[in-house]
Amino acid sequence: MYIPEEKISEILNTSDIVDIVSESVILKQSGRNFFGLCPFHTEKTPSFSVNPDKQIFHCFGCSSGGNALSFVMKYHGISFPEAVRMLARKYNVVIETELIDPIKRKHVLVKESLFRLNKKIMTFYAEFLGDGSAGDAAINYLKKRGMTTEIIEKFHLGVSHDMWDAAVNFLKKEKVTRQVAINSGLILPKKQGTGYYDRFRNRLMFPIFDINMQVAGFGGRVMDDAMPKYMNSPETPIYSKSRILYGLHAAKQYCRQEGIVHIVEGYFDFLSLYQHGVKNTVASLGTALTQEQVRILKGYASKMILVFDSDDAGINAAKRSIQIFVKEGVDIRILVLPDKNDPDSFIMKHGQASFKSHAGQAKTIMQFLLELAIDTHGLAVEGRIKILDEMKQHLALIQDSALRSLYVRELAETLNIDEKAVLEKVKDAYVQKNTKRSFLMTEPKNNEILVSDPREKQILSIMLNYPELIPDVVEKNVLSCFYSKRFQEIAKKIIATKSVNDGFITNVMAKIDDDKDQELIASLAMDDFSGNDNLGKATDVLMNRIIKIRKKNENILTTKIISAEKGFDTDVTELLKKKQQEIQQLHDSQQL
Ligand code: CTP
Ligand code: MN
Repeated sequence: MYIPEEKISEILNTSDIVDIVSESVILKQSGRNFFGLCPFHTEKTPSFSVNPDKQIFHCFGCSSGGNALSFVMKYHGISFPEAVRMLARKYNVVIETELIDPIKRKHVLVKESLFRLNKKIMTFYAEFLGDGSAGDAAINYLKKRGMTTEIIEKFHLGVSHDMWDAAVNFLKKEKVTRQVAINSGLILPKKQGTGYYDRFRNRLMFPIFDINMQVAGFGGRVMDDAMPKYMNSPETPIYSKSRILYGLHAAKQYCRQEGIVHIVEGYFDFLSLYQHGVKNTVASLGTALTQEQVRILKGYASKMILVFDSDDAGINAAKRSIQIFVKEGVDIRILVLPDKNDPDSFIMKHGQASFKSHAGQAKTIMQFLLELAIDTHGLAVEGRIKILDEMKQHLALIQDSALRSLYVRELAETLNIDEKAVLEKVKDAYVQKNTKRSFLMTEPKNNEILVSDPREKQILSIMLNYPELIPDVVEKNVLSCFYSKRFQEIAKKIIATKSVNDGFITNVMAKIDDDKDQELIASLAMDDFSGNDNLGKATDVLMNRIIKIRKKNENILTTKIISAEKGFDTDVTELLKKKQQEIQQLHDSQQL
């Protein structure tokens, strides 16, 4: 560990997990805990819980869990020191960076330099846009597209210079290191000779903000018909295409308010909707949405309206995204705007009210797919068979059987085919899909037969929730009788934790590096012993039992080994010794 444990404890004790988690998950209080939809697995009913007293989260569905730091790490896909720094910044805790491992520290510093650089060059482009003659063409273009000054300023639009080395020189002037310069994606190595040239030249520049309002990357659009129309930052240490959603930093509060998010494709689609007051909108910036993007959005709204272009590319993108929404269990509607409009052109022509009324009538996935299939295949006999073949695959993906049967009926009626026949087809597809899936799922189950002694885990749980009982555990020396080395190690860490009653679990967490161990602790910390009026006594009984079982097992084995050795039966001796080791390993390998 590169950051002192006390610092980690300090950060964990200053931060508030409810505060942190609710930045990305919608939480509702129920009793002492808060519940929401788990951001780490697919679910429709909330099994993700946050406990403010213990400052931990735990998902009863996928058993992910941990403290504020592990949440931040897992959610943002960042390393431990990055998470520490993120929370330290948020809660004004000072940490000395020298203490971080030099390689990791370098990564963190590179990222911070990249954010700083992006912010500076964003200002550089924005100033150039406001720079009279130089930015005139760009301003005119934006005005022609109906953008207000307010929007231009709010989203820090700019224009890049009509030169090969404006960014190159900017980086030089800023004395940016070579590594940061190359990592920024703002410049590219010349194909011939040495040196670099600007990636974005004479383009309208859209800074892309991440959820923390930092400039992660840029998009650039030509102002004429040149190709390619759009260019975006490449993948960099701070910009990942599959995670970013343009505009989310500004839209998130409105998405929460409405419980709905509109998903559009392009920069201008987003800006036009926002300008017209449809502020609960984000842009996916590409074609199909990724699972990560959908999961991020789930933290802000439970209902999503996909407003893709009605051209072929848009419809194909919508089709590809559907699987992800279904898998993620999101209530998704699809809005196909009339007359080949995209969201930008539609709202510019028809205004907010008309857009909202169309959005209110957006189609369900099945309606959308069915209409699409009818458009493609027609309703003649052959067409109907093809439609059924296509639709059965989609229907088989629906896990909710009531919903599925509703769609089956609708499909049967539309195609004028007997409902039973349709159901048969869907069942076939369903069985095919699910046998494949369950085949994969049953594999690791073999291990489950080998259940470890649950008492060892109970001891950990008691130690965590009732630190005042720890001295009893130590005195009994029950740990030496644990079969699970892993539980033993964790128990040692719990014992070594200073008995600060306030924030005890937090302080234990600060000692645990391993993800799986963190999850375990979080799940144990959720245990409730309040029904037990004499926990001290119960603990004693539990410990005696563990010790007795261990002794008994050892005795049986040792007796056998000794008698085998007496009979000089080395094979059996080996076998028994192996057996003893196996039992040890078995207990060690138990997860949770
Ligand atoms: N896009 C891209 N690269 C391209 C084309 C498109 O990254 N070569 C992304 C951009 O984020 C763009 C979105 O896909 O905003 C949608 O593309 P498209 O429908 O072609 O453009 P519009 O957003 O309609 O752009 P405009 O209205 O400016 O013509
Ligand atoms: Mn457009």
